[in-house]
Amino acid sequence: MNHDDKIIQAEEVLKSKHEEIRKTKWYPTYHVAPQAGWMNDPNGFSFYNGEYHLFYQHYPFSPQWGPMYWGHAKSRDLASWEHLPIALAPSEDYDKDGCFSGSAIQIDDKLYLMYTGNVWTGDDHDHQLKQVQCIASSQDGIHFTKDEQNPVISTAPEGNIHPFHFRDPKVWKKGEHYYCVLGSKTNQNIGQILLYRSKDLVDWEFMNVAATGTGNFGYMWECPDIFNIDGQDILLMSPQGMAPEGYMYHNLHQSGYVVGKLDYETGILEHGPFQLLDYGFDVYAPQTTVDEQGRRIVLSWMNMWESEMPEQKYEWAGAITLPRVMTLENGTLRISPVPELKSLRKDKVAYERIQVNGNELLPKVDGSFVELKVTIDAKDATQFGLKVRVNEDLGEETVLYYDTRTKVITFNRDNSGAGPKGIRQAPVELIDNKLHLHLFLDSSSVELFINEGEKVMTGRIYPNEESIGIQFFSEGEIELLKVEKWTVAGAF
Ligand code: FRU
Repeated sequence: MNHDDKIIQAEEVLKSKHEEIRKTKWYPTYHVAPQAGWMNDPNGFSFYNGEYHLFYQHYPFSPQWGPMYWGHAKSRDLASWEHLPIALAPSEDYDKDGCFSGSAIQIDDKLYLMYTGNVWTGDDHDHQLKQVQCIASSQDGIHFTKDEQNPVISTAPEGNIHPFHFRDPKVWKKGEHYYCVLGSKTNQNIGQILLYRSKDLVDWEFMNVAATGTGNFGYMWECPDIFNIDGQDILLMSPQGMAPEGYMYHNLHQSGYVVGKLDYETGILEHGPFQLLDYGFDVYAPQTTVDEQGRRIVLSWMNMWESEMPEQKYEWAGAITLPRVMTLENGTLRISPVPELKSLRKDKVAYERIQVNGNELLPKVDGSFVELKVTIDAKDATQFGLKVRVNEDLGEETVLYYDTRTKVITFNRDNSGAGPKGIRQAPVELIDNKLHLHLFLDSSSVELFINEGEKVMTGRIYPNEESIGIQFFSEGEIELLKVEKWTVAGAF
């Protein structure tokens, strides 16, 4: 079947299933999720002709990962979204087992996608595969044509570079050249990033291994992204297989970054230590773009490989985090939800100066589609926080709390409902003995921004629809200096 026919076939399936799927209980109301079937990494996130385009790894025919297509949605304001037809389908000899992750770039008035063509050469998918880099382009940002010169990078470079695991191009322009980074590993299974240069997106020259892991840094780095904020080069990547250290790195794979300086002559990135992008359960394969206002915006797959995904029983799987703005402060990224999300706010409820010692319920502070901002004075409490998606009859709750002795914030989903359990933790310093929490709840997700985006914790939860309570609690006295709660309107 040719590319166009494959897209038509997939679109028919999506159209026939979406209306039913979107009514099921864990389907998000304001996060991008597949209309039906499977989703993983965000791809091709870009600002094109005044709109944000978001593509994603997608298998339209079942809620399990399969030969990858590129799903597509767009937004004018990063708050409301519209689904668009599938952009890429696996249709050629060089990508027949999947159009894997990649990125987008606008050249003149065309939108170009650069992606990895994947072909299995045997049943052992770790060792029997061929990955090549390809491009496709579009005049309208909707219909894409694969380039006749594909693949534009057909073999991994010589040297201590694994010949098969070689994927996820992120492309950008600087000066006269296009550059792209690829995820890769050495033959000894150490994650690394490859840097290429081109004048036309077709002829690519391998420049160097821009960075290689040392120590506990995983066996493969996926989905690299390099960008500049305030004169610093930041490499964002997703290392597979870092070992847990204290309360860090408990997910199967991590997403994080290093800050440094990329030498565009040698192709080497000198950089500082690895820092986590998110301290929760479910952030992987982040990708960024820059918009008209010069903001660096990131979003990620809001799941984790091999984690249980209870939504699969409703014929869909996967969602994308809220878009977040990144700024750099003292060598660390500060990450905040984009302000445009305010346009989805409705039915504001607010409180001030509420003393809590034990448990506290605030009238009208509840719900499943919620934005909540709270400033808490810790006073002399030892522990305090809030429970969301609470249902006492069912024993369901998702707990977010701070311990003033350990200076750690904990996200506990042991009693969240169906699905994966466990805790994740993040070190947090109070500011003048105060904690700022900014929380977004959707049907099956929690995104917690701590102290104005100093730390973020993201996780999927699968509560009962009736579990909508929110409770504040403390051991010792605290004061809720300010509580603001909105219902979040649907974004589609
Ligand atoms: C990351 C990843 C990428 C790959 C894609 C396949 O989650 O494994 O490296 O391109 O997913 O769907």
